Amino acid sequence: QSKSDHQLVLMHEFAADMYHHILLNTEEGQAALDYLENRGFTREIIEKNKIGWSLPEWNYMASALKRKGFSEEELEASGLGIPREQSSGYFDRFRGRIMFPIMNETGKVIAFSGRVLEHTKQEAKYMNSPESPIFQKSQVLYNVHHARSAIRKNRQIILFEGFMDVIAAGKAGVDNALATMGTSLTAQHIRQMKRFAQEVVICFDGDNAGWEAAKRAAIALNEENFKVEVAVLPGKMDPDDYVKENGAEAFKDQIIGKPHAFIAFAMMHAKRNKNFQYENDLLQYIQEVLQLLAGRSSPLERDLYIKQLSGETGLSQEAILQHYRKLENKTIERNRPEPTMVKASKKEPKQV
Ligand code: CTP
Ligand code: MN
Ligand code: MN
Ligand code: MN
Ligand code: MN
Repeated sequence: QSKSDHQLVLMHEFAADMYHHILLNTEEGQAALDYLENRGFTREIIEKNKIGWSLPEWNYMASALKRKGFSEEELEASGLGIPREQSSGYFDRFRGRIMFPIMNETGKVIAFSGRVLEHTKQEAKYMNSPESPIFQKSQVLYNVHHARSAIRKNRQIILFEGFMDVIAAGKAGVDNALATMGTSLTAQHIRQMKRFAQEVVICFDGDNAGWEAAKRAAIALNEENFKVEVAVLPGKMDPDDYVKENGAEAFKDQIIGKPHAFIAFAMMHAKRNKNFQYENDLLQYIQEVLQLLAGRSSPLERDLYIKQLSGETGLSQEAILQHYRKLENKTIERNRPEPTMVKASKKEPKQV
């Protein structure tokens, strides 16, 4: 780590301590503290995650950091200060927000996500630190520092959409929890996850965006040879909503404890917004599911899901299996190595 990166980390550590202090020990932090309490945040949770409050002033953190001896260049590079357009000087990026520090693998604060107390259409619910030399959104997973040992112990990662869900899961003793920082799951995230475990349970929000993101994440992880399961929430709830409504125990037992296998989830996903009275929907459903099955599943899985498809659609298992074989041949065709890579041969490779 370079000297200037180290400075940026020091700034974030300083800011996190100050936000945290303001939340817990000042009059100005009281409304935010009430809000958090209302959402079920205990003192212990607030302290463990070093949650804070940024004052709604234009120039509080920027001047505090300056007094601390940090330069204007550092202020800008950290993302904590933004240069004024009309005059000289800087103003605070985070004002009047609940501050969630984002920590790196060693537990050092490298960025923030700030939530407004009440979200209106005017401003974004969350504001995040911009990319900086110490923070690349596409690489950072929330809670890695806390979750690492639990992940290794359980040999499994529970992956959430947001840090609110990670924190809610913590109430249920689900400590092997990570979340992306509001971006979709990247190759770098997956590489990092691989260092810790080979199994993932995806538990995203129950709204449409969550279902779509879960499908994409499941496919990406499956392709990287993770054992993938998906825990599904009723209605449009997110994990945090569910814990609030049904309690932490129910979340652990009924949701995290009953995940769906990758293909079973893909079938649920493919069935959403489809009406089997329409033959197009029906055929598309079969096509989507078989496409995922082709080339990946064991004979037993294949048999299981083809039976299920047949039951659901009323089409014969034989017809579905025939179509499956066609898709499978195409998949093998696609995955065949380039002709220049293998010894020239006129013979077709043996089908397995
Ligand atoms: N997110 C973001 N910017 C937004 C909305 C969301 O960066 N304007 C990211 C945040 O990292 C958040 C995640 O996406 O943790 C999930 O978003 P969402 O489901 O909308 O937030 P919740 O975690 O449900 O937050 P809350 O319960 O406070 O509404
Ligand atoms: Mn909301
Ligand atoms: Mn969401
Ligand atoms: Mn959510
Ligand atoms: Mn939520």
